[in-house]
Order: sequence, then structure tokens, then C-alpha cells
Amino acid sequence: MNIINKINKLRKEKKAVILAHNYQLPEIQDIADFVGDSLGLSMEAARTDAAMIVFCGVHFMAETAKILSPQKIVLLPDKNAGCPMADMIDAESLKTLQAKHPDAITVCYVNTSAAVKASCDYCCTSANAVKVAQNILLNHKNSEIIFIPDKYLAQYVSSQVKYDFIAWEGFCPTHAKILPDNILQAKKMHPKAKVIAHPECRPTVIALADVVASTEGMSKYIKKSPEREFIIGTEIGIIHRMKKENPEKHFYPVTENIICPTMKQINLEKVLRSLEDLTYEITVPPDIIEKAHLSIERMLQIV
Ligand code: 13P
Ligand code: SF4
Repeated sequence: MNIINKINKLRKEKKAVILAHNYQLPEIQDIADFVGDSLGLSMEAARTDAAMIVFCGVHFMAETAKILSPQKIVLLPDKNAGCPMADMIDAESLKTLQAKHPDAITVCYVNTSAAVKASCDYCCTSANAVKVAQNILLNHKNSEIIFIPDKYLAQYVSSQVKYDFIAWEGFCPTHAKILPDNILQAKKMHPKAKVIAHPECRPTVIALADVVASTEGMSKYIKKSPEREFIIGTEIGIIHRMKKENPEKHFYPVTENIICPTMKQINLEKVLRSLEDLTYEITVPPDIIEKAHLSIERMLQIV
């Protein structure tokens, strides 16, 4: 039996669902029951009636699935698949910042640990950060707002809602590799292509983009757009899905080296092992689940 048949047999026997982020390897996207962005994946994790979730993504995403569905078994096929941006802030350092701004509202990007989410008022993803910020500004008129951990996402949202956040100095090392010059070069080579950038990119890159969107937002835009060529300013794994969904359109990575190493740690062998041995089970203490759930629930209420 080949590896895909083995995975299919086991996922059926164990009533497992396989969720994959848009940056996963093509062969992982192809076997997944659902492929999406952070928001879509968390909603799918909450919606599914499967007893077990094999989460092909990074640690904070699997933790978010566990927070939303504590009764389900959530597995991350590689225990070292983390997000370096999420690791740039911990609960202790957040508390120190909050102590300096005791009345501030804290918004955390979903790219944070469960313990950090538990100390925040609102969660957001790249798909809804602007909407969440607008809602907070409407309901907490005179409050300061702390935005963690992505300084570039904070700057992008700030430019959209015209409000200056108290921002953490975190960033995504993969998206930070995209420089304005890369966009200019790509535009020179493909003058008709639309430039699409993820809000984790540097503001100087965002300034050169035609569209700024989450990974799911990018896919939706491309499907609807009458344009035929696109320069993709995010992790190149998503191009697999874009090509599959739009075989008649053309996609150019800004540069070929925009690869998130931890997203690529999961492979078919690890997914099979995960189903065989129930590795690696994500656990979150109940008190953290309760508090972190509140910040995610507030986000889901808004969107
Ligand atoms: P999306 O929610 O847009 O998929 O982004 C997640 C992420 O980690 C991007 O680097
Ligand atoms: Fe984290 Fe960046 Fe990788 Fe996304 S692409 S998981 S933000 S390191």
C-alpha cells in the first residue's frame, strides 16, 4: 500500500480530518480535507464533527484549533513546526508592557501562543485585523490600543484605520525578506501583472502593491479578477493552490526564496506517523483555554 492509501485508510478509521495551511507542501495540500488561511482553518476546526484534527501548519494554529475545540484530539505532525514571529513575544513580556498602559485594550494577531492570547482582549487574523481595529475604535473611543506581535501588520492596520497603536517589535522573518527592489524587478519582468502582498510585508513593499490581503483573500481576489498575471508577495507555497484553482492564469513569486522553513517541516511520512501514533498531541491548560477563547470569540463575533 502506498503512503497516501495508508493515510486515507487511517484517517477513515480514526475519524480524523486533515487541515492544511496555504503554505504547506503541495502533496500535503492535495491530501487535505480543507486548505485555508488562519481564520478559515480555525473556523473549520470549530465546525468539524471529526473526533481528531491532524493540523498541517504551525504550532499556534494547532493551539487555536484546540482552544476552539477542547474536546477534540488535535495533532501537529512535527512538534518543532513553530512560528518565529509568534515566539517573539511571551506572556511575561506582554504583562510588562500592559503594566505600563493599564487601561489599554490589547489586540493580538493569531500568530501568538495560547498563553499570550489568554492575556489579550481581542484576537485578529490578517483577514480581519482592520475590521477588528475599527470595531474597537468604535466601542472604546478613548482607549489606547496595544497591537502585538507584528509591527508591520500593526503599521498596515494603522494606515487603514488612521490610529497609532502601541506596537510590539515583532515581524515575520520570511515576509521581511521581500524588499521593494524585488517588487520593482518583478514588475519590470511582468509589466501586466497585478502585485498582491500579504500585510506581514514591510510597509515599503505594501506601498508598491495593488492588493493587500490574507492568503485566503489573495485566492478569492485572483478567482474573481479578470486579470491573468499576478506577482505573489507571500510564501511561495500558496502558488500551488492558485495554479490548481486558476489553470489559465499565471503566477510569479516575488522571488523564489520566500519560503517559511517551519511550514515546510511537515511531510506525508510525518502525517502518517501522526495518525498511527497520535503524535504530537496539542494540550493547553483549561484556564488558558478559557481566557484565550474569549479573545478569539470576540474576533469571531465581529467577523
Ligand atoms: P494567513 O492567515 O493570511 O494565512 O497568514 C498566516 C501566516 O502565518 C502568514 O505568514
Ligand atoms: Fe510565522 Fe512567517 Fe512562517 Fe507565517 S510565514 S508561520 S508568520 S514565520
